[in-house]
Amino acid sequence: MLTEGFNFEPSVMNEKPEIGIVSQLKNRLPTGLINESINLESFIAEAKIEIESKGYYIAKKLITQDWYNSCREQSIKYFDGLNSNTNDLPTALRGSICAGMADSLGYEKNKAWHIYRYCGFRWNRPNQDLVKIIKTSHSLSRIRNVIYGTSEDYGDFIEENNFFTYTSLSLYPLKGGFLNKHIDFKRSWNIQPMIHFKVELTHKGQDYKEGGFYITDKLNRLICVSDLVRPTDVIFFEGSQPHEIAPIGDGDYGRMAFFEIPASVTPASRECIYAGDGYSFPKKILSKLLTKIP
Ligand SMILES: [Fe+2]
Repeated sequence: MLTEGFNFEPSVMNEKPEIGIVSQLKNRLPTGLINESINLESFIAEAKIEIESKGYYIAKKLITQDWYNSCREQSIKYFDGLNSNTNDLPTALRGSICAGMADSLGYEKNKAWHIYRYCGFRWNRPNQDLVKIIKTSHSLSRIRNVIYGTSEDYGDFIEENNFFTYTSLSLYPLKGGFLNKHIDFKRSWNIQPMIHFKVELTHKGQDYKEGGFYITDKLNRLICVSDLVRPTDVIFFEGSQPHEIAPIGDGDYGRMAFFEIPASVTPASRECIYAGDGYSFPKKILSKLLTKIP
């Protein structure tokens, strides 16, 4: 993922988690998602330390096996049902998001990436074919927020600074699906780099033979995360660390994974003329133009 038009306010990012926020988080996670053997307080404390020191953390067996299986089945079924003619698909979404836009499934093959990507927005009714994945994405976003230090529902709604989050489910196809190495945050921006999570639903060595998710950690080591991640694990990492999807090799499935993308809606997409009764057409046009002038 490249930069998605973030618009953070440092004062929000530095906010300390409220006392009892982990208890509140627990109450808002669906039953059956998190492995019962996981102590959420210890897990979050360990994740913070690991991410701070290495730039990434793999939460082993965070999700229950049944829950994970449901997500994997949904993803495989969804992409199996795709029309094989990629010309019928729009370009995969990347970059500016307008508030209220429709969910989309796109495809792209160029010098930067080769991918099928589904994007689901909270303002739309959840895609019933992917409802388990979407629910998981929203829940893990809350856990990510607590690790990060914001309120647990940060990005559930469009915030005052236009920040929000949305679900991205991707398929990097066999024999060449990839995403160039990139960073999502620059240190020079002087903001706390957002933590991403990823749930891999197909696995290197099992579903495909080569490639996968790589990250350069804070010790400057190139880590093939997909070599380390097994079903039910969740990856957390700082978007400021260089990361990529190396070309996917042969196998039964490509690389399928989902996460909740931190993004911003375009300011213009939130503007509207609420009153216009009695306005002449030219006056409506003029009024609309004036709202665009800062
Ligand atoms: Fe990215």
